[in-house]
Amino acid sequence: MAERETWTTRVGFIFAAVGSAVGLGNIWSFPFQTGSNGGAAFLVVYLAIVFLFGFPAMLMEFVIGRRSKQNPISAFRELGFGNWSFAGALGVIGSVVTLAFYSVIGGWVLSYIAGSATGAYFGEAGTFFESVSAGPLAVGTHAVFMAVTVAIVAFGVQSGIERATKVMIPAILVLLLGLAVWGFTLDGAAAGYEYYLSPDFQYLSENIATIVPSAVGQAFFTLSLGFSVMIAYASYLGRDDSLPADGGAIVVINTLVALLAGFVVFPVLFAIGVEPGSGGVGTAFVSLAGAFGQLPGGALLGAAFFFVLLLAALSSAISLLETPTSYVVDNYDYSRRTVATGLGAAIFALGVPTALDTGTLGWYNDVVFSFLLPFVVLLFALFVGWVAFDSASEELGMGTSLGGGFVTLWLWWVRVVIPVGIGLTLVLGIQDLLIKAQILESAVILA
Ligand code: PHE
Repeated sequence: MAERETWTTRVGFIFAAVGSAVGLGNIWSFPFQTGSNGGAAFLVVYLAIVFLFGFPAMLMEFVIGRRSKQNPISAFRELGFGNWSFAGALGVIGSVVTLAFYSVIGGWVLSYIAGSATGAYFGEAGTFFESVSAGPLAVGTHAVFMAVTVAIVAFGVQSGIERATKVMIPAILVLLLGLAVWGFTLDGAAAGYEYYLSPDFQYLSENIATIVPSAVGQAFFTLSLGFSVMIAYASYLGRDDSLPADGGAIVVINTLVALLAGFVVFPVLFAIGVEPGSGGVGTAFVSLAGAFGQLPGGALLGAAFFFVLLLAALSSAISLLETPTSYVVDNYDYSRRTVATGLGAAIFALGVPTALDTGTLGWYNDVVFSFLLPFVVLLFALFVGWVAFDSASEELGMGTSLGGGFVTLWLWWVRVVIPVGIGLTLVLGIQDLLIKAQILESAVILA
């Protein structure tokens, strides 16, 4: 079997991990989650959860990956507790299911880039969305997006993922910054910032039971946690890196990108007087595209915005495909190219139903968000905190100058605080799924 690859540089790893983290979650779902949950009130809760839960949970995955130097399924076996590999496997399943519909949304973004250039969505934003989001065109763009993802992963860790993300991340940052500056010049800027940044604490206290679970889901999703992705990426890492420093950098950059996206989206929406309200998966596309269509220079700026969204989605999709790929490449004697292509084709097929019906896409999304993701994070926390805690603590201490106090605090946080917090979220999430299923059922009965 071929020698296992590693990242060429520390910065290469950070770019790749930031590439995974920065995605549709930051630029598309974050501003709209914030918008539909009361603006700044949501932001405050979200930021607290990112740093208090997301950061320590990211270190859990790093430790498992770097300690074992194995793909996320074998990693659990390598650490000496074979019966826990199901936890890593569930994470890999999460990656596969997520990529299936993530790639479909990536395909929508392709259509929106084309639509900006031709002005196709300027008149009827809603009709345009319907025509590109479900049906043969959506299947086609899904195929294109998946093919590009496969091509990058097939080239490997260094010449595929590392090289691609080194270009994509700076491009995302520069373009987004430019768009935010343009947003500042719009008429809606003041009202947008106001909505975005001044918290309504009354709203917060009245809606805390729905705000917290969505903020938790959003925080883990945006940091690419619970999908075994960070286990896979950290397995290509050397021992002399400081995991807390790298993790800290990744969390901070990821958060900045999300915040920056808000500085683009809110001025644009308020400039044409659209309230960033709630709605299904497509609302964001419809209202945002509609706004671009009405603004001077909207064609160019809309194209730039959707191009940023495409880069962000692509650098995340790569990591979602790398995770199952690493497992097959580690364990079977197939070339990386064959594996990436085969898996890409299978995941494409899994995504086809979501490219034919946005309701189905919503279901994939809900199952991942409300159930799979928190459940897997819970399993990882139990494994790291109560099973493999000796090697986990030792691994975290390597390459960092932070002392034993930090490691001990982290370990207890992983043992107690994360499981309790996630456990509660999981209960609320499952409840939410059941309510949705019931609504569906009664709708069927009524019909
Ligand atoms: N973090 C990505 C986003 O915000 C999504 C993702 C989740 C990517 C899990 C990889 C793994 O869009």
